[in-house]
Amino acid sequence: MGKKENPLAYNDIVEQIKDKADAVDVIGRVVKLRKAGRSWSGLCPFHSETDGSFHVYDDGHYHCFGCSANGDVIRFYERYYNLDFKAACERLGAEFGIDIDWGKGRDSAAEGRREALYRINADAANHYYKCIKKAGNPGLAYLLGRGVGAETIKAFGLGYADDGGRSFAQAVEGNKEKIRDAEEVGLLYAYGGGWRDRYRSRVMFPIVNTRGKVIGFGGRDLTGDPKAGKYINSRDSKAFSKGHNLYALYKAQQSIRERGFAVLVEGYMDAVALHMHGVTNAVAQLGTAFTPQQAKLLSRYTKNVVLALDSDASGRKAAEESGAILQEAGLKARVLVLEGAKDPDEFIRAFGREAFEDAASRALPLTEFRLLRLKEGYDTSGAEGLADYLKAAAALLGGLDPVEAEAYAKKLARETGVSETAIREQAERGRALGGAPPEDGRRGRADPAMRAESFDRLLVELLAYPLNAAAFLPRVMAQRHWFSDSVYAPILTAMNEAGFDASGEIDVAALRYLPAEEDQILLDAVLARAASPGAWSDRTFEELLRRAEIAILTKRSDELAEALRSGGDAEADVLTEMQELLKKIKQLETENRKAVS
Ligand code: UTP
Ligand code: MN
Repeated sequence: MGKKENPLAYNDIVEQIKDKADAVDVIGRVVKLRKAGRSWSGLCPFHSETDGSFHVYDDGHYHCFGCSANGDVIRFYERYYNLDFKAACERLGAEFGIDIDWGKGRDSAAEGRREALYRINADAANHYYKCIKKAGNPGLAYLLGRGVGAETIKAFGLGYADDGGRSFAQAVEGNKEKIRDAEEVGLLYAYGGGWRDRYRSRVMFPIVNTRGKVIGFGGRDLTGDPKAGKYINSRDSKAFSKGHNLYALYKAQQSIRERGFAVLVEGYMDAVALHMHGVTNAVAQLGTAFTPQQAKLLSRYTKNVVLALDSDASGRKAAEESGAILQEAGLKARVLVLEGAKDPDEFIRAFGREAFEDAASRALPLTEFRLLRLKEGYDTSGAEGLADYLKAAAALLGGLDPVEAEAYAKKLARETGVSETAIREQAERGRALGGAPPEDGRRGRADPAMRAESFDRLLVELLAYPLNAAAFLPRVMAQRHWFSDSVYAPILTAMNEAGFDASGEIDVAALRYLPAEEDQILLDAVLARAASPGAWSDRTFEELLRRAEIAILTKRSDELAEALRSGGDAEADVLTEMQELLKKIKQLETENRKAVS
């Protein structure tokens, strides 16, 4: 197997795979898993049994108590698909869009550094936790005062950084490496010839990634001094990226899967308070706006998110924005409008879990929430205001998918008494303009997210071909790199693994069983497309390939145009590439026109 030829490169690749390929997810595609206490269990694929002694854990490993098979996702692939280590990594890499370069040693040095940074963070978390357990410290008093008890403090590893500025500095005194690492993650800074704690007089919230590593901290000020800053968050480092992680996700992951949705809140305290009261599927942002990467991270566990953001104006605005990001990532967002409290923490302490769960179950679908917010801006008691509102609402509908738009046109008509036809016509006009409501630039024609969306539609189209004639499968597989960034990658993988039925077509019954539960909806979309009318011919397939290629080249040329605009390097090169791209696009378009006529 030659694992020793470049151990650092191996580490890096293995880490990347484990970061992206969630074990419950990956193994769950081929072994039917059900929740069993702290793990997921099923029938062991490596020995014959009826007991379900095979367990998969959220930290990424599996273990069979019957035959002692155990390991991580890579080991699982090695055994299940009978691959060697490298081939298993490469297959997982292909499925999860990880570039695997065995020769590369550079990033693996970074990986070693990353591990060291995780370690220093864990040291600090332990240290601050010890401090909060000491009698009579202000951190404990503060938390107890907010109703956070010892159990929750332990579960979240909350800590206390005193006001002396020497707390953690002293704990690592004399250890040069630890001091260097602590400085790199922003725990210490040089001060008067020595080192000083960056977090002082703060309650410490360790931020833990999905594999249980402490990657950073949020520290809440206890002094109330506005100059101190209410929260200090770890700076981004090799160990931490605010936009790629979510607070409390490590603790919430099982619960999110079980309940089938996640609750997204703004603050650390909101997440802690919700968990404390039994809403264990809550996660929090990390002091920045919600990102597409965070949406993707959540989509590993569920496609449904309830936004429980603060009830003030900025919280409502954030709900729309985060909702749009979730929607663009293929998730369903609903918005919980909190009444009688400014944030989820206050709400659940005042009204309790049941009231919260009840409000969550009545959370508004994103579009409904957007319409409601829109309406607030118009005086709809008069004809003029009503007309303006309907125009704006129709523009909003124009940006939706047609089925949803139709449903909301009906609803609006019922609500306002204006005819459905009028609303639909107005919405159509909005769609013709690229679905861009005037006051909402996000959904313009040139929006890359829109482009990505339509590229996904091309992928669905492609996937529908092998379902009509299995002979198309290798031809779609040949384009599997097109799928690597898309949510449809697992569907293609599943198709390739489903095998064939007696008539030589893809075994749809087997296929149904393959993708993870949260991907079933995608499979449904593909099956629905395959079942609807189409020529499913060689000619239309080739035309489709050209359309996809045009989309990819167009995206590349957009990127180049952007690079040119921002005055990137080597302009002449960029221009040449641009010209070639445009030529190629033209040529493909001509071929497609010929094919049609
Ligand atoms: P909140 O002010 O709502 O914080 O800010 P909170 O968590 O509810 O805290 P309490 O209840 O007042 O103790 C929401 C989130 O915004 C980020 C933090 O992530 C916080 O949890 N934030 C806020 C900062 O990063 N810096 C700040 O100065 C304030
Ligand atoms: Mn709060």
